[in-house]
Amino acid sequence: MKILVAGATGSIGLHVVNTVIEMGHQPVALVRNKRKVKLLPRGTDVFYGDVSLPETLTDLPKDIDAIIFTLGSDGRGRIGARAIDYGGVRNILRIFRDTPVRIGLMTTIGVTERLSNWNQRTEVHDWKRRAERLVRASSHPYTIVRPGWFDYNNDDEYRIVMLQGDRRHAGTPEDGVISRKQIAQVLVSALSNDAATNKTFELVAERGEAQPDFTPLFMDLQADNPQKNDGVLDLNNMPFSEEPECIINELNLFSIHVKSI
Ligand SMILES: NC(=O)c1ccc[n+]([C@@H]2O[C@H](COP(=O)([O-])OP(=O)(O)OC[C@H]3O[C@@H](n4cnc5c(N)ncnc54)[C@H](OP(=O)(O)O)[C@@H]3O)[C@@H](O)[C@H]2O)c1
Repeated sequence: MKILVAGATGSIGLHVVNTVIEMGHQPVALVRNKRKVKLLPRGTDVFYGDVSLPETLTDLPKDIDAIIFTLGSDGRGRIGARAIDYGGVRNILRIFRDTPVRIGLMTTIGVTERLSNWNQRTEVHDWKRRAERLVRASSHPYTIVRPGWFDYNNDDEYRIVMLQGDRRHAGTPEDGVISRKQIAQVLVSALSNDAATNKTFELVAERGEAQPDFTPLFMDLQADNPQKNDGVLDLNNMPFSEEPECIINELNLFSIHVKSI
């Protein structure tokens, strides 16, 4: 597969690019900062663009088989969350509206938690959750991965655990931990695994060895309900009817398209 990586120069994206190569696929790194290209493996295909500026994305190659999103707007507050965590996903999905692509989207454990100081201040959870909703509405087969705290795992914590319903809301590593490398492995593996299709899950690691094959873990998960905007077991605490009109319109653009093809 030719896999577009949005967020390729980030702490997870770099692992994703390497994992894509290790698993025999071809990455195309979406990069906004030319100085960061040297971080990528030599010879990686690079496309320069800023995901918050749709005009920089129109020439994205169309012979893409899959897209992995590992974008992050950390530190840029609610404007960044809207423009990148949500807007970046929206802008790229628009480009690929008529192209069959498999999607892997990374958001975060606790994405449905709304009342913490962190989300009240940054709205990062809400905007990432809206990005999840766009992916579910896009008609593309997808896997949405909500990882726990990056690299907070101890040396003996590599046994992957996939959860659903997003009920861990401490906002600390108590919610779960996972290595960056394993997040990348799950994101890339999911693209070619039918058992992972249209599933949303939290991803953590607990004491024990890494499993050699994720298929049994994917198989144990429930698929999302196509009638619902959220993950299959998620709390219904961000009702569609209370969403801003512009957000409803953007989501409907995808849904209307789905119905018309
Ligand atoms: N830290 C944790 O424990 C944890 C746990 C779960 C989820 N998360 C979530 O994971 C995300 C952080 O992942 P990470 O560590 O990989 O982030 P990161 O290192 O900050 O990488 C973010 C990537 O997004 C790219 N990006 C940002 N704005 C862009 C734009 N306008 N156009 C194109 N690319 C853009 C960055 O490009 P540049 O390299 O040019 O900046 C970078 O490649 C956060 O959103 C966080 O909420 C974190």
